Amino acid sequence: MHHGGLAALRVECGPVRPITIVVEDPATGDRARYAFLRSPVRIGRREDCEIVLPQPFVSARHGIVQFDELGARYADLGSRNGSAIDGVPVSPDVPTPLSSRSELRIGALRLSIARAPEPSVAGESVAPVRPGALTELMEALARPPEVDPEAAWVASLHPGQSVGRFELVREIGRGGFGLVFEAIDRQLGRRVALKAMRPGAHPAQLQASWLQREAEAAAQLNHPNIVTLFDVGRWEGGPFLVMELLRGEGLDARLDRGPLPLDDALGVAIDAARALAHAHCSGVVHRDLKPSNVFLTDAGWTKVLDFGLAHVFGSEPSLAGGTPRYMAPEQRRHDPADARSDVFSAALLLHETLTGRLPEDGPPASPGSLPGVPAALAALLARALSPDAGRRPPDGAAWLEGLLAAQREAEKDPSGS
Ligand SMILES: Nc1ncnc2c1ncn2[C@@H]1O[C@H](COP(=O)(O)OP(=O)(O)OP(=O)(O)O)[C@@H](O)[C@H]1O
Ligand SMILES: [Mg+2]
Repeated sequence: MHHGGLAALRVECGPVRPITIVVEDPATGDRARYAFLRSPVRIGRREDCEIVLPQPFVSARHGIVQFDELGARYADLGSRNGSAIDGVPVSPDVPTPLSSRSELRIGALRLSIARAPEPSVAGESVAPVRPGALTELMEALARPPEVDPEAAWVASLHPGQSVGRFELVREIGRGGFGLVFEAIDRQLGRRVALKAMRPGAHPAQLQASWLQREAEAAAQLNHPNIVTLFDVGRWEGGPFLVMELLRGEGLDARLDRGPLPLDDALGVAIDAARALAHAHCSGVVHRDLKPSNVFLTDAGWTKVLDFGLAHVFGSEPSLAGGTPRYMAPEQRRHDPADARSDVFSAALLLHETLTGRLPEDGPPASPGSLPGVPAALAALLARALSPDAGRRPPDGAAWLEGLLAAQREAEKDPSGS
């Protein structure tokens, strides 16, 4: 929410390309830029508008900007003093196209729109990994190793050691397939996260060209709710990934302290759904969504980790490696996973975030079976957890839409009935 003067930058995240709306007050010289990834943008004096304008000539709900990949439209919502586009008053409730050259006037205020780059967590845009880099790495990995990689791995992965141009600072965590370190990139002088893959995790399955294309697409995903992959590399001990360094904790660690309140649980699920919606649009399926792959930053962002890389490094969730708790039924059967498998895993994650536990085996959650969870959300969860993939929301965008509707319901009726 925007409070006070016109100087704040507001960032909203969503599945579509963002727009920037610039508001200028010629009377005071104030100028504010707002970036939005989610349509619609409501403009008015009321605090629940996306752009809150305190001026007396602005109505409580003055107008609304809607946008999609095709462009933006403005509609006046029947305001007291009206709105004008390029000097022409607009009729109430009739959406009028708004181009980057249009000037929208609300009283003395001038509003204009422009497309904006995707924001990153630091507010600066980061370039994702170079196209083709992953394929080159895969080809290098297919050649016989010069040294015993296991020995090199064990000997070298300690704080103070170097892996290529990266100096390891401290171990952050370890998973089934590798170790994650905070590291310093000596060349670029920045801190990064370096994930060294255990040798032996080789990319056999990448021989399929569609998998290779998907891995390349995953490596280039650029979204505020997806950790940015900076680089991939190889040293004598095996392959490694270089990522944006996150501060905060994994959802796994957070859940060890108990479930999250409804608002927070929904917020995390919605951010993760934005990441899925974006990836699914790019033809990338995560395939290994679980609490340790969802990260909550100290700055309040949710970031999804390990996108689509599950099978690149042979770390596709396997039945051999223990109970595949977050896998969709089709994945357990070794049938191909698709966007709907991610929706299933995302719903399991939300169930656990809300209740502290996974749904028991047997019939999936049904309305009323989750105490404290609004009926609309429980119904959405039940659909998303359907063993039959055809009954689930078909992809991340549909899952996101369902969650946003459930969030609006929850806000309207906080009692959850
Ligand atoms: N970019 C990052 N910045 C900060 N911490 C990270 C980053 N990437 C991973 N981590 C932390 O490192 C831990 C280990 O990650 P890793 O992916 O190796 O293991 P995992 O997700 O538990 O299991 P798996 O090997 O199946 O993926 C994670 O739980 C996470 O908290
Ligand atoms: Mg992981």
